[in-house]
Amino acid sequence: LPILPPDLSTCDPTGATTTRRVGDKQEVVKLDVNCCPPFTDKQGDYKLPVFTKLRRRQSAHRLSPANLAKYKKAMAKMRELDVTDPDDPRGFTQQANIHCAYCNGPYDQVGHPGVDLQVHNSWTFFPFHRWYLYFYERILGELIGDPTFALPYWNWDNPRGMSMPMAFDDPSSSLYDEDRNQAHRRPAVVDLALNSGITDPVQLISNNLALMYKEMVSDVETAVDFLGTEYRAGDDPHAFALGGTSERGSHTGIHAWVGDPRNDLKEDMGNFYSAGRDPIFYCHHANVDRMWTIWDKIPASYSKKVDDDDFKNSSFMFYDEKKNLVRVKISDCLDHRKLGYEYEYSDTPWINSRP
Ligand code: C2O
Repeated sequence: LPILPPDLSTCDPTGATTTRRVGDKQEVVKLDVNCCPPFTDKQGDYKLPVFTKLRRRQSAHRLSPANLAKYKKAMAKMRELDVTDPDDPRGFTQQANIHCAYCNGPYDQVGHPGVDLQVHNSWTFFPFHRWYLYFYERILGELIGDPTFALPYWNWDNPRGMSMPMAFDDPSSSLYDEDRNQAHRRPAVVDLALNSGITDPVQLISNNLALMYKEMVSDVETAVDFLGTEYRAGDDPHAFALGGTSERGSHTGIHAWVGDPRNDLKEDMGNFYSAGRDPIFYCHHANVDRMWTIWDKIPASYSKKVDDDDFKNSSFMFYDEKKNLVRVKISDCLDHRKLGYEYEYSDTPWINSRP
């Protein structure tokens, strides 16, 4: 059976936890954060608008000044809502808490008390984040009255994008976050492999490209290898889960690389509960999402389609840009163009990086 959307009325305000490695064992740590969304019993199925023109997500290192200005203004408005109306589900903290709620355990699966809902480490990973960004982007657009607004993507799979995008490294900007690894500010080169230990930038770049090739091509023999393992109603996510190659690879690599080692749990980017508090999270995930669209088109000997009704019918709840609580299904997000956006082209040199 499919994963059902959470029941917001049963979200546990003290239920957020995380795990931390102590010595050689994992320890569960209770988090001092209430990441439950505001509750309303008015909810319904989401109806996708008909998009006549696609919003184009630009690569962050090429972001046009006009689009950067819009983005900063929209982010500033989203942050403002935290102060003027903390219960507005479109505020920045509320948006960040969505990630915590779906990943740190305050929701149990409907019909399975005591079994956490967790969208990572499985095939719900890509679709959940696609929907999450979709609404985040629409809300930003709404806040500045511009429905064409599109998030930029952090093009870390391309040498030109292998450092923190300038737009996010400006302390006077609404896109800045203090809680990042200070040694990894520009012009440091990203390390997509978790702690490769490589320090030479040229070597890092070629290591990154080789890693991209592995996770996009040579380590993938089935759709599930890439998308993540099956996850069905009642499955205990702590017992089985294995994320796809991309989720475990470059995706986690960037989280760990940006997270602040001065903080206990590597907040912000280094922990699920706090990752969404860094605006760069959404730019990072736009590229993760772009990797899904690119993988889809790489010729392969296996089927890219997961023909499984549990997968397609799994669903989530989000607040849309008008504050309506809506239910969305995985099947409705499998084609990103139906969600009204596309990615500006950037070449993928890793495709030639067969080791
Ligand atoms: Cu929901 Cu990058 O994690």
